[in-house]
Amino acid sequence: MRIGILTGGGDVPGLNAAIRAVARRAFDFGWEVYGIHDGWKGLRDGDVSPLDRTAVSGILHRGGTILGSSRTNLTKKPEDMEKAIANTKKFGLDAVVAIGGDDTLSVCAALSKRGIPAIGIPKTMDNDVPGTDYCLGFNTAVTTVADALDKLHTTAEAHHRVIVVEVMGRQAGWVAMMGGLAGGADYILIPERPACIADVCAHVKRRREMGKAFSIIVVAEGAKIKEICDDKAAEQHKDEFGHIRLDLRGLASTLSTAIEDQTGIETRFVVLGHLQRGGAPTVFDRVLATRMGVYAADLLKQGKTGLMVASRGDKITAIPLEEIAGKTKDVDADLCALAEMFY
Ligand code: F6P
Repeated sequence: MRIGILTGGGDVPGLNAAIRAVARRAFDFGWEVYGIHDGWKGLRDGDVSPLDRTAVSGILHRGGTILGSSRTNLTKKPEDMEKAIANTKKFGLDAVVAIGGDDTLSVCAALSKRGIPAIGIPKTMDNDVPGTDYCLGFNTAVTTVADALDKLHTTAEAHHRVIVVEVMGRQAGWVAMMGGLAGGADYILIPERPACIADVCAHVKRRREMGKAFSIIVVAEGAKIKEICDDKAAEQHKDEFGHIRLDLRGLASTLSTAIEDQTGIETRFVVLGHLQRGGAPTVFDRVLATRMGVYAADLLKQGKTGLMVASRGDKITAIPLEEIAGKTKDVDADLCALAEMFY
């Protein structure tokens, strides 16, 4: 048996731990393992090479991905899918393990539908892949956010300021919500709950009247804010999946200026950006990646394909790839209500 492994979409800490786990389990089965470089692009272009035990050694704790990544969408042009299928056969790959978010996994589902045995492992710091409680990289990202909020609290308090903190989160606000809950945010804006600046300002003023001279506002980059609807700059830059460059929305800067203008309280902003995707994975992500990687190889050993590995409660399980393709998992209302209790 020969398998290929790839990582697609935005990188997260924990990808290397997952590659190592899939490969090590496969080696134990006596299989050959190939690395597909730069996501689906590598399969389309034939950038595929063997991995040995040495290649996957010493990478458990390392961020990034030894295989590289891209946002290549094989379903965009029919000829790309044909090239990828031809290369799967050319390199003798009996199965492909794709580690990625909703976009990478949608392509994985499409490839599987075309008869290529495939298994998906969910990774995205956005944590918005349905069917799994956690995606690789999310825990590390929210740990970074909580750490940043701790630091920003001390300076906001010292200067009696508002600080707006922009975090990643395209369609879902898991990072803003969980990071904000852990870091004691005073207001959290997420894509699932359209908001308006007037409400944020009223809250900031209320806090000041109650003797809290500072506020920390966490905003997900994909948040929908009534008064901010000019996304022209961001819309000029789209990836192959049609996603706009959310960092170009300038949400934190616009929000910060509006808060200062409307409340008279000095306001600053911070965009945490790619810091949230960098560095070493947390213990949680290392263990999750190891469990998911081994489970993926075990599924293949049992002849099961067309599945995504999922974490549910304290168990690792699998669900059909087609159940999650093209869908996202939103932040639930009770988490929003929990956060509001501490505003
Ligand atoms: O894919 C998840 C994500 O982290 C989003 O939250 C963010 O919008 C996007 O990636 C940014 O990706 P990049 O700048 O690497 O293209």
